[in-house]
Amino acid sequence: MNILKPELNDYLHSLTPTQDPVLKKMELLADKKEFPIIGPLVGRLLCQLALLTKAKRILELGSGFGYSAIWFSKGIHPTGQILCTDGSNENASLAAQFFKQAQIENMVQYRVCDALSVLNQDSGLFDIILNDVDKHEYPKVFSLAVPLLKKGGLLITDNTLWQGRVIDTNPSPSTVGIQRFNKLSYESPLVLTTLLPLRDGVTVSLKL
Ligand SMILES: C[S@@+](CC[C@H](N)C(=O)[O-])C[C@H]1O[C@@H](n2cnc3c(N)ncnc32)[C@H](O)[C@@H]1O
Repeated sequence: MNILKPELNDYLHSLTPTQDPVLKKMELLADKKEFPIIGPLVGRLLCQLALLTKAKRILELGSGFGYSAIWFSKGIHPTGQILCTDGSNENASLAAQFFKQAQIENMVQYRVCDALSVLNQDSGLFDIILNDVDKHEYPKVFSLAVPLLKKGGLLITDNTLWQGRVIDTNPSPSTVGIQRFNKLSYESPLVLTTLLPLRDGVTVSLKL
């Protein structure tokens, strides 16, 4: 189910055509591989939120081949660092090529690992954490990620409307993960959360 009418979705895309040649190439690759990237509408939001928070340290949980990281690089402080994580070696080597083409290889570190393991390490505090891992893991990510955010930092979580499946009454394990996450992020006194119905739903939780 599309959250927005296709005509409105097309309208939004027509307002923000992708100009950057590297991002454009990545969007074509994502289409070809049917790989779920956040896309230009949410990419622009990531860049905007990095600028708003004057972010210097960003952690991505589920980086794929680097599309969301390139959007962050456009808004992060010039001396900032983006720590990418993904379980796939293939994604890591594609990302390395794209980071080189975008000339941001000095700004990015990419670890092939279980993304949640980074949340268990002593990795310091982050200005922004992007949560885009497997959906059944979302509640665990919430509990582990919020303590690693600076005050005023953001947990940004993708796919929180899950193509409308969040209101299923007989939900799959992935849907249950997102439903629990949404409830947690609205009920927790540690954050102030808004779920934006952009693309597949993006939740922005501000650490209080
Ligand atoms: C939706 S894609 C990420 C897309 C990326 N954020 C973008 O928009 O460019 C999700 C990625 O998370 C990875 N992933 C899912 N669960 C993971 C986990 N627990 N640890 C590491 N990687 C994980 C998958 O391999 C996949 O590449």
